[in-house]
Amino acid sequence: MELWHDRILILDFGSQYTQLIARRVRETHVYSQILPCTVPLATITAYRPKGIILSGGPASVYERKAPHVPRQLFDLGVPVLGICYGMQLMTHLLDGEVAKASRREYGRAELLIDDDSDLFKGVGENRATTVWMSHGDRIERMPKGFRVIAHTDNSPVAAMKLSDAARRFYCLQFHPEVAHTAGGFRLLQNFVHEICGCKPTWTMSSYVDTAVAQIRETVGKGKVICALSGGVDSSVVAVLAHRAIGNQLTCIFVDNGLLRTGEREQVKKTFAQQLHLNLHLVDASQSFLAALKGVTDPERKRKIIGGLFIKQFEAQARLKLGDAKFLIQGTLYPDVIESVSFKGPSATIKTHHNVGGLPTKMRLKLIEPLRELFKDEVRVLGKELGLPDDIIWRQPFPGPGLAIRILGPVTKERLDILKEAEAIVAQEIKNAGLYREIWQAFAVLLPIRTVGVMGDQRTYEHVIAVRAVTSLDGMTADWARLPGELLGTISNRIINEVRGVNRVVYDVSSKPPSTIEWE
Ligand code: XMP
Repeated sequence: MELWHDRILILDFGSQYTQLIARRVRETHVYSQILPCTVPLATITAYRPKGIILSGGPASVYERKAPHVPRQLFDLGVPVLGICYGMQLMTHLLDGEVAKASRREYGRAELLIDDDSDLFKGVGENRATTVWMSHGDRIERMPKGFRVIAHTDNSPVAAMKLSDAARRFYCLQFHPEVAHTAGGFRLLQNFVHEICGCKPTWTMSSYVDTAVAQIRETVGKGKVICALSGGVDSSVVAVLAHRAIGNQLTCIFVDNGLLRTGEREQVKKTFAQQLHLNLHLVDASQSFLAALKGVTDPERKRKIIGGLFIKQFEAQARLKLGDAKFLIQGTLYPDVIESVSFKGPSATIKTHHNVGGLPTKMRLKLIEPLRELFKDEVRVLGKELGLPDDIIWRQPFPGPGLAIRILGPVTKERLDILKEAEAIVAQEIKNAGLYREIWQAFAVLLPIRTVGVMGDQRTYEHVIAVRAVTSLDGMTADWARLPGELLGTISNRIINEVRGVNRVVYDVSSKPPSTIEWE
């Protein structure tokens, strides 16, 4: 990231919405980054932000272990916006008083704006707007110099500010970053552009130039390897690197035999034939199937597939590119934030496989040009680089592939059944115009058989579960309310067209407590 971009720093106190704040700020074309609230003041000053946002968080400022920031943060001469917990913390640190509200306030509230001269400029109509509240504490006494700029029936201080020659501090009791807060985007834009004075220079075309220059500088004349999966992240990273270094890049695509119908052909067509990337396709399906023989435990499946992938990839890389120095990978910003969260990394629910472990083993240097980007930014970047829509809008697909959608042992016969069912689900979701709106829609083959009747014959055959979810990032998800008609079509087609299936069920579980994939 170039230093010429004006930057907003977001300090995270553990709110589920912190990433959303960063995304909204970036949508105003200003670069923003999240750091845990525990970073030392020196890190904050070194970052040279033009504004700081203190996120919300689950704590209460008076709790013994409540996260704090150094008080000197308010002497840096940059504007600060405190949201929910950020507001209470600012109040507390600047000698105001926070108290438990007599009743907690969650959800929609009508906000009445008392001052629309800066933060609330252009927000709402007739000085009223809808906001999304979520807090248990309230401001009992504002710190010296602050005044109310908006209130609700329940919160006399729903927003406040201190604005003098040296200091510009703003606080909100509600969440401007969520979609339910009607004028939230405008409000954040006012803060970032007007109050902090950031120039809107952060665009994906400027990002391409910067990233290309950086890749060239890092790589020099060296050779680079990329593990292409056909998913949006690795595709974008491959095309970006190709733009930067052309044939110094070689992409390796390992077909583990657990892919969807037509996937390998599509990768070949797009990357080798249309985009002219140096692509090396490896058919390793037999060895994957052999290694998975008789394995039913989900974690063992994941580990076998992950281990074998690395082995195959490494062998091919050595064979083709023994002298390569770099591995380029599509790590995204949410993965980076997750590993630096002040709450610490979360428990392993499932072993995710990627090319982790390879760089050190092969003595490769890792390049991650998408480390600063959110998924939606990666899609814009892909478009900028000329990738076709069907790759840019591809639904996520897990590394272990169809193996974790076949409950029980993975055999050729069961793989074929699932592939056919999966193709029908994808096709019908696309026909219904729902493919982009739905995070993932897929078929799962269950390890049971049920009784049915076809013609006059009794059948005893497989069951397919259909799973479709809506989600923003895969961390939480809800089952998609697909129209009954569509479910009917999917079910009819699967039962009629896929031999060996006589029943289709629909999964109506959300995440948590379920997960998206069944294994
Ligand atoms: P779960 O099942 O944990 O999945 O709710 C969350 C998201 O992650 C995808 N997923 C994977 N992606 N390697 C991947 O690259 C994996 O091993 C893996 N397992 C799950 C899943 O499809 C969903 O989008």
